[in-house]
Amino acid sequence: MIQIKPLIIAHRGASFDRPENSFAAFKLAYDQGAEGIETDVHLSKDNVPVLIHDHTVNRVTSQKGLIKQFTFKELKQLDIGSWFDPIYHTERIMSLVDFLQWAEPSQLMINLELKTNKVNYPEVEAIVYQSVEELKMLDRVVFSSFNHLSLEKLSQLNPNTYRALLAKRHSSRLIKLSQQLNLTGIHLKQRAINLITTKKYHQFNQYVGAYTVNQPNDLRRCLRAKCDMIITDRPGLTIEKKELFLNQKDDKF
Ligand code: G3P
Ligand code: MG
Repeated sequence: MIQIKPLIIAHRGASFDRPENSFAAFKLAYDQGAEGIETDVHLSKDNVPVLIHDHTVNRVTSQKGLIKQFTFKELKQLDIGSWFDPIYHTERIMSLVDFLQWAEPSQLMINLELKTNKVNYPEVEAIVYQSVEELKMLDRVVFSSFNHLSLEKLSQLNPNTYRALLAKRHSSRLIKLSQQLNLTGIHLKQRAINLITTKKYHQFNQYVGAYTVNQPNDLRRCLRAKCDMIITDRPGLTIEKKELFLNQKDDKF
């Protein structure tokens, strides 16, 4: 029997094998059969939502500076692939809209992480929401953030959006907050995942995602804990191991 759950989501694309948040990483994730892609959103100086993890360009380009100090045109000139391997020197930062348009014909689920915990991007929630809404992709997008205020703003824009809070550890405060914000789910650091914790969210009909699950042993623990979503840098390996683990008899699994 084919078991769909838990969903395998490629973290920053297939970022173990390709430069993170690049088209090459997104394409490989799709080719490997990932059910979804997680990516990180910041705003350029001219308010274009762009996909990059850090709030600066320092780590993945040869330049220095905050994302919000560059216009989109300037950002597009930067090479985001060579730091990983010079063969990826043609990779360029993607706009959210270009990414969504690429993903639209597929079945991919999209997890947009709003990076609003370090830099203040006025109106980023509304700008990102509008991009998704215009492409009629709201039913395929989960918005996540470490900053619960961003999720609150999204809820005000549209209470039917799928929203998940990111957290490094579980706490009773987190359970309360996730109910107050009427969240769809929670994305917990994989170390914090266990059956007792997932049950707490499931009883309120909230799903539990785990990030970032790259090792088979951690995957097995998250599967045993009835996790609903696995966010991984290695979608190919994770899909293969998931099938293997779920098809094993209980005593081995
Ligand atoms: O969304 C899961 C994960 O991406 C959160 O942490 O730092 O990798 O964006 P980070
Ligand atoms: Mg992220």
